[in-house]
Amino acid sequence: MDITKQLATGTYTWLVTGCAGFIGSNLIEALLKANQKVVGLDNFATGHQRNLDEVQQLVSPAQWANFKFINGDIRSLSVCQQACAGVDYVLHQAALGSVPRSINDPITTNDTNISGFLNMLLAARDAGVKRFVYAASSSTYGDHPALPKVEAVIGKPLSPYAITKYVNELYADVFSRSYGFHSVGLRYFNVFGPRQDPNGAYAAVIPKWTAAMIANQDVTINGDGETSRDFCFVANAVQANIRAALAGISQSEVFNVAVGDRTTLNDLFAAIRQSLADNGVQYTKTAQYADFRAGDVRHSQADISKASAMLGYTPEYRIRDGLKLAMPWYIQQQ
Ligand SMILES: NC(=O)c1ccc[n+]([C@@H]2O[C@H](COP(=O)([O-])OP(=O)(O)OC[C@H]3O[C@@H](n4cnc5c(N)ncnc54)[C@H](O)[C@@H]3O)[C@@H](O)[C@H]2O)c1
Repeated sequence: MDITKQLATGTYTWLVTGCAGFIGSNLIEALLKANQKVVGLDNFATGHQRNLDEVQQLVSPAQWANFKFINGDIRSLSVCQQACAGVDYVLHQAALGSVPRSINDPITTNDTNISGFLNMLLAARDAGVKRFVYAASSSTYGDHPALPKVEAVIGKPLSPYAITKYVNELYADVFSRSYGFHSVGLRYFNVFGPRQDPNGAYAAVIPKWTAAMIANQDVTINGDGETSRDFCFVANAVQANIRAALAGISQSEVFNVAVGDRTTLNDLFAAIRQSLADNGVQYTKTAQYADFRAGDVRHSQADISKASAMLGYTPEYRIRDGLKLAMPWYIQQQ
């Protein structure tokens, strides 16, 4: 989708929380390139100034002048109120991601992802924003085995992180019923792309493996490698956010945001190796296998027909397209 075309109807003010993170920084890049006004909120818990610096390099000086950054914490209601003032659309991304992080520290994950979310929802309602779009998660499907995943059928959460993301949906629904404030939750399925952090104990699989392969280090697959995911290039997620903000809805809704594909970890390992080879980086080691990781869902694949029908969402990039676009960025980071 051409986002510029979608936004051609006018200039709006967007609040992107978590703007120094992976998905948030891709959102502000797309919005600024479409000549929108953007307020960004982040406390650098897991985000980085370098992501904002990179966006500044990718947009024109005039577009960058449309960006206002607030260094603040969504756990403070007054910070959320300040950020929402005069805003048309909120794209709420700020949260602590990672299933293992939530297992190690459920309190901080809960404070950020539930109390912080409630602060943002309340502040957005009181500021009278046109639409509140938030990052939900495929982890909400929990232990339900059905594939592909359809929005209405979920299981029991498998981690504290999954609980927090499900509670977000419950709050959004209750704000719809109690206050007539309708919002849109986007259940992201393993988003990947430039600026996704390859470092740290809680790094996601694609940046983690890619960085390890570039450095010719061992890659460890948790489990037998037949665990599968619906990997979604970040440009698809950006498209879904803009469409969700501009769509007309009459109640709070949640949508799967993915491609509808299923890739095993063994296939992913081969695809990253091939994509690196295409860029002149050879990785000759074989994968190492370790135990399954606690809290992980075994298989994940989205049915995206609801987002297609109600938002007009059409993912433009499948996993190999996304890897091709992301690989030069990862190689440049080393
Ligand atoms: N990346 C994925 O595959 C994926 C999948 C499902 C859901 N999500 C959700 O999407 C959102 C964005 O994820 P991401 O991958 O870009 O992660 P990220 O860690 O790169 O970005 C999150 C951003 O939120 C900021 N943040 C954290 N706590 C904050 C606080 N208290 N106040 C202000 N800012 C705070 C961080 O500093 C960071 O910049 C999160 O809500 C995450 O749970 C991501």
